[in-house]
Amino acid sequence: MSAPTVEAVRAELGKVMDPEIRRPITDLNMVRSVEVGPDGQVVVGVDLTTAGCPLKDTITRDVSAVVGALDGVAGVQVAMGVMSEEQRRELRSQLRGGVAEPVIPFAQPGSLTRVYAVTSGKGGVGKSTVTANLAAAMAADGLKVGVVDADIYGFSIPRMLGVTYPPTKVEDMILPPVAHDVKVISIGMFTQDGRPVVWRGPMLHRALQQFLADVFWGDLDVLLLDLPPGTGDIAISVAQMLPTSEILVVTTPQVAAAEVAQRAGVIAAQTQQHVVGVIENMSWIEQGGDRVEIFGSGGGARVSAELGRTLGYQVPLLAQLPIEVALREGADAGRPLVLADGGSPAVDGLREVARTLSHRARGLAGRSLGISPVGR
Ligand SMILES: Nc1ncnc2c1ncn2[C@@H]1O[C@H](COP(=O)(O)OP(=O)(O)OP(=O)(O)O)[C@@H](O)[C@H]1O
Ligand SMILES: [Mg+2]
Repeated sequence: MSAPTVEAVRAELGKVMDPEIRRPITDLNMVRSVEVGPDGQVVVGVDLTTAGCPLKDTITRDVSAVVGALDGVAGVQVAMGVMSEEQRRELRSQLRGGVAEPVIPFAQPGSLTRVYAVTSGKGGVGKSTVTANLAAAMAADGLKVGVVDADIYGFSIPRMLGVTYPPTKVEDMILPPVAHDVKVISIGMFTQDGRPVVWRGPMLHRALQQFLADVFWGDLDVLLLDLPPGTGDIAISVAQMLPTSEILVVTTPQVAAAEVAQRAGVIAAQTQQHVVGVIENMSWIEQGGDRVEIFGSGGGARVSAELGRTLGYQVPLLAQLPIEVALREGADAGRPLVLADGGSPAVDGLREVARTLSHRARGLAGRSLGISPVGR
């Protein structure tokens, strides 16, 4: 069998995606050279964005696989190199769509990305667990999903989503790592040895700005933000930077938790953000066929009703999720439980919320336009 042409090999290389940027390596000018010997030995020169690219092995494997499958190929060798300054600048400009200065893509008028900020009044009610599972469920449904861990002090998203490698930098642009098909960025990826972050308001604001503008997100269907508990600086920064972001409130059934959760939701009235709904978490635990309501009951319904009254539109209770050991185990192991085969009350609830949120039309319905009616 005769050896393939260089063009045939190049065409095949168009099937290899850069794992971070998620575009064909041929479009990104990463394929430096293709040589085909008469004996069917192929050498592909690939230029990486950085020398320490954590995904070198993945790219080598993918290139070898697609080229190796071509008729007439006897062997494949991948010769790795690194992009020049010039190439990196070009790539950055290509990814930014020719725009020189970083802007927040989700705040641009034509953005089709639905942005949800997951918030709560109290800490430890399950915001991060809900965020990680919703993101994984949406990605498994075929949506393009990103998560910003905006909990700068208590970052937990990288672990829950099982992020295994750091972000890559191309000039001043950050390529977010991908886990379970979800693009993830967290301050935890920028601290040394998990050291705690001691920052004040303006620095938090700047960090969030960077997460939104300097990170290459590509086209996303949905962006989820995992917020820190309470109604602090970050919630206000999110409202300023992403005025069209919508709020998802997480609470436990407990009356005290419900009261503070309501306050978190009411901030939305001031920032004119739309509240999409309430998730009640840790609603019960199944024991010997009985539901034991260790945190009481009614918190979710109460937050939903009160917010509806305050905000003047319906704020649905989207789900009640029981306590399930496997949900916690999945979070600790970096594999969201929604990705496991089969279902459970918590998993079914999370999958349903994921579908509801990802299929909502992005319209102005229920969203305040910041104008008040005038009397005749
Ligand atoms: N329904 C559930 N069943 C079992 N464990 C849960 C459930 N929801 C959350 N957890 C566990 O409870 C702990 C707290 O949850 P999580 O970190 O998601 O809360 P949080 O609201 O993000 O907390 P923080 O305010 O500290 O950011 C975690 O260990 C998580 O695995
Ligand atoms: Mg959290």
